[in-house]
Amino acid sequence: MHRTTLAMILVGGLLAAPGQPSRAAAQSVVYEAESAVIGDGLVESNHAGFSGTGFVNSANATGAFVEFTVTGSGATTLAFRYANGTAATRPATLTVNGTAVSTLQFPATGAWTTWNNESVQATLNQGANTVRITAATAGGLANVDALTEGTPTGTGPIADPIPQNPIQSGLGLVLTEYAQFPKTDPVPSPTDSRLRRHARINHLGQLADGRRFVPDLNGRLYTLPAAGGTPGTYLDVRAAVGANFFSGRGLGSGFGFAAFHPDFAANGRFYTVHSEAFQALSRERADWTQSGAVVQSVVTEWTAADPAAPVFSGTRRQLLRIGFGTYIHAVQQIDFNPGATPGSPDYGLLYVAVGDGGRGTSSTVPQARNLPFGKILRIDPRGTNSANGRYGIPADNPFAGRPGTLGEIYALGMRDPHRFSWDRGGSGRMFLGHIGEHDIEAVYDVRAGDNFGWSEREGAFVYDRAEPCYLYPLPVGDAELGYTYPVAAYDHNGPPGCTGDLGRAIAGGFVYRGGALPALQGKYVFGDIVQGWIFATDEREMTRGGTDLAPLYQLKVHNAAGNQVTMQNLAGDSRVDLRFGMDRAGELFVLSKANGKIWKVTGTR
Ligand code: GCU
Ligand code: CA
Repeated sequence: MHRTTLAMILVGGLLAAPGQPSRAAAQSVVYEAESAVIGDGLVESNHAGFSGTGFVNSANATGAFVEFTVTGSGATTLAFRYANGTAATRPATLTVNGTAVSTLQFPATGAWTTWNNESVQATLNQGANTVRITAATAGGLANVDALTEGTPTGTGPIADPIPQNPIQSGLGLVLTEYAQFPKTDPVPSPTDSRLRRHARINHLGQLADGRRFVPDLNGRLYTLPAAGGTPGTYLDVRAAVGANFFSGRGLGSGFGFAAFHPDFAANGRFYTVHSEAFQALSRERADWTQSGAVVQSVVTEWTAADPAAPVFSGTRRQLLRIGFGTYIHAVQQIDFNPGATPGSPDYGLLYVAVGDGGRGTSSTVPQARNLPFGKILRIDPRGTNSANGRYGIPADNPFAGRPGTLGEIYALGMRDPHRFSWDRGGSGRMFLGHIGEHDIEAVYDVRAGDNFGWSEREGAFVYDRAEPCYLYPLPVGDAELGYTYPVAAYDHNGPPGCTGDLGRAIAGGFVYRGGALPALQGKYVFGDIVQGWIFATDEREMTRGGTDLAPLYQLKVHNAAGNQVTMQNLAGDSRVDLRFGMDRAGELFVLSKANGKIWKVTGTR
């Protein structure tokens, strides 16, 4: 907080005289663009949704500007409300009192009637300041509606955290059925109907020898020939674990994921995560546990005697075991970076995404650096320098060797770090699809040491554990707290408060770098688990740092015959339970638990 208390006690809701700044809420001031100094542009009112009496339509020319006179008071947030109905960004240079501060992107909002805020941190002098945005490209400025100065905590809940809805894309994916999985059942019999699915398949990957592999949460690891068709059981994890195997409570419970070592063909090693309960809760010693644990996640190393054999036979050993206080948000994905080559620092290191165990809403555990909950861990399965001696802590991990901090932690501050993947092109960035609590379904660019803020933040908003039904604006000075915010996100568009939430959840995906679908090149393709929506963003537009979000496009879906359908049609269910997979050639697959099918994306339209 840089403001004095007196300056903060402004009365909200005052009606301003025309041409005067209005106080939209205590602590923030709105300056209308139609009252600003306009360099090469007109005040217009032909696109609805503006505040005040109009907006500024600048000339489509480099150098066009809007200059506001803003009464200052130190570090603050400047939020420009704008619309950009084109497909391109409309970048502008921000100058404060004649000094260039930064370039703002003003990405597409989808329509000239869709208004969004482009926000930036800036420091103002006491008294009058000139705040100018100047078009950096020949497109000119976006249409500019207003400038809000200051959005500190306590300005009240935000009704619609992400006003920009996904943009309907003209692009459609053609899905061709690839495999049908046998019906499976959770154990114990579920009380939650959302667990009664045809088959709880949740990922597709590929071995170097060509076989595709698919885990089913109810216990089996399947392999498939390259052409798809009928799956064969490679390993029955449920049978191997025995009576303590547990897949019947909590959406992610069961045999959650499998990750094959990049050199599996030679060393036969692969890794799984599954959940256990029943007698395991009293008999098995967890490496870490939440109080009153109801389920444990177990990471296991398996070594196949013959890596080429169609059915597993070999040995196994437990790497780690974590107890969770509720049935939600246990260990989700485990995986190897496919871009790491032998000898590179990431090669053979296993990333383990650990949820907050449902405890983030009532505690600060996702921020606690001495516990694994709400973190992505990075471990060396072949090392021995961990506390239990069964795996290693890589020396280049961001917190390795720091007292009071788990050296295993790669990144922290997560609720349900559900699916991550590495871009196999570009600069090899790691993207995480993170399922939010109240409103925000987010994609993060994950780097060593990142803190995504949960449960102090949800996306780029303040989450208040005492008022969990709302989100609040970031405080002044937030940038100094070091949180990393999403590069893409959508919200639930639920009514304010806790009621009527649509229960949507992000299904993280992959950056497409395959050869068959040029129209998807460089696009991060992901979706919504429940509704089955498929989204795409351009990898280059998912820029890190700050609170800007990449424009997000909703793709159409076509069946193999070319007819436009929905994923709900293809899955035969209103709850799709959508997941994505990718083979080694970088081609995309779409999965549904509802009917236990996988489709390959065979074309675009
Ligand atoms: C359209 C739109 C204007 C906008 C302009 C532009 O003409 O109606 O409001 O300013 O495009 O591309 O800048
Ligand atoms: Ca214009």
